[in-house]
Amino acid sequence: MRCRSVLCILCFVFVEIYGSVKPNENDFPATFKFGVSTAAFQIEGGWNEDGRGPSIWDIGTATHPEIIADGTNGNIAADSYHHVDRDIEMLRELGVNFYRFSISWTRILPNGDLSSMNRLGIQYYNGLIDKLVANSIEPMVTMYHFDLPYEIQKIGGLTNPLFPQYFESYANVLYSYFGDRVKWWMTFNEPSKHCISAYGIGEEPPFVNATGIGEYLCVDNIIKAHARAYHRYKKDFFKQQGGKIGISANSRFFFSRTKDRNMTDRGLQYCLGWIMHPIYSKSGGYPGVMIRDIASNSQMEGREWSRLPNLDVSTKAYIKGTADFFGLNYYTSRYVELGAYAGTENPSWENDARLNCSVDPSWKKGKSSWSYSVPEGLGGLLRWIKEEYDNVEVIVTENGWPDDGRLNDDGRIESLTEHLRQVSKAIKEHGCNVVGYSHWSLMDNFEWLAGYSERFGLYYVNMSSPERTRIPKKSLGVYKKIIESKKL
Ligand code: NOJ
Repeated sequence: MRCRSVLCILCFVFVEIYGSVKPNENDFPATFKFGVSTAAFQIEGGWNEDGRGPSIWDIGTATHPEIIADGTNGNIAADSYHHVDRDIEMLRELGVNFYRFSISWTRILPNGDLSSMNRLGIQYYNGLIDKLVANSIEPMVTMYHFDLPYEIQKIGGLTNPLFPQYFESYANVLYSYFGDRVKWWMTFNEPSKHCISAYGIGEEPPFVNATGIGEYLCVDNIIKAHARAYHRYKKDFFKQQGGKIGISANSRFFFSRTKDRNMTDRGLQYCLGWIMHPIYSKSGGYPGVMIRDIASNSQMEGREWSRLPNLDVSTKAYIKGTADFFGLNYYTSRYVELGAYAGTENPSWENDARLNCSVDPSWKKGKSSWSYSVPEGLGGLLRWIKEEYDNVEVIVTENGWPDDGRLNDDGRIESLTEHLRQVSKAIKEHGCNVVGYSHWSLMDNFEWLAGYSERFGLYYVNMSSPERTRIPKKSLGVYKKIIESKKL
């Protein structure tokens, strides 16, 4: 009898102890890094202070205020130029491992090239980086986040064949001044989104409407510029600084109602492979499907050349393998079916891709026109990247949820938690090499054509108060707990 009750007690103790230490199904590896992302133009303000030169977005919003939903601009934005200390305090409060921010090219080189160098700009970023390091927050720097120097636009911008050289010089300056402390570099943010909007459709600065051609030239230059910046780093800086270079591309995931994997693959090659295949694939160059389609579409249009530039053998080899990690920005997904080519009169990336996209009625809709919450799309993408690019090291460099800025942001909490659940699953169940996740965004900011009408922040920013007061939203506490415990 005594024996039995001792056994019972032992069983009870075992269940209690095991229950409390048994691994949580949704946790993250101990080395997993959590962060938040921002971009210079969207938060800094101080647009003409201390020698900063104009970018295409300064000029674009000044000359065409009507394109911004609420008629605003980024002149002050969240005024991070004057509130670095408060930003650092917020990062500390959240407990992030890294902060992904971008550098404003024209704060460093007001004319875009080495004809001008702005010490005060360098001082500003030195201050920010020093404070991050002092607080054990790793700086993760995007070199280019849509804010091209206006002086470079005057000479053709991202379609000028000399652009990669201008970018290499700029990257060289960044490595020289900041590379002793910055160990994570992303050359470009969302090249396809930027090139389609700015040089294809032309709805965003610098408003070049050259659809079907401009977006391809722009991406072509960006991947060449990326490769130059990478080689420069490896040649002149890597030995002393030992950092990593990557690039952040955006992609949706594409579901097929008929479970046609070719359609999923087609969507992903056009969306993500366009940028990443030349850099991360074994063969290099643009995805075969794009090369074939665009050549045949161009022929149909009576052209002698493909609208997709040709990467010759040596350029392909120069670009291939120029990254140490893969940056992925993920927000939403679509169902996809193959459409007909309807672009002989109006060629465009969209026509070439022939992706007839639709959404599922069950997907939750966010404030932005394009935003539907589809967390499982992130899982699909991570698995596809693993297969396609040899299990490359991935950082989810952006993922977030747009609303109206409410403090009780339950939509953001659900989106954040469910997307992180997919990241955890991708790592634990599918062996995906995901090493970090960064939420967009630390604080509300200038959401490009939507101005301040769509908010993504973990902190609310009062855009009408002179001091741009920041107030934590409910999601902040939730993310903080996840970061602290590495558990969902
Ligand atoms: C991606 C872009 O990188 C960022 O600038 C933008 O604010 C978010 N998506 C939300 O649309």
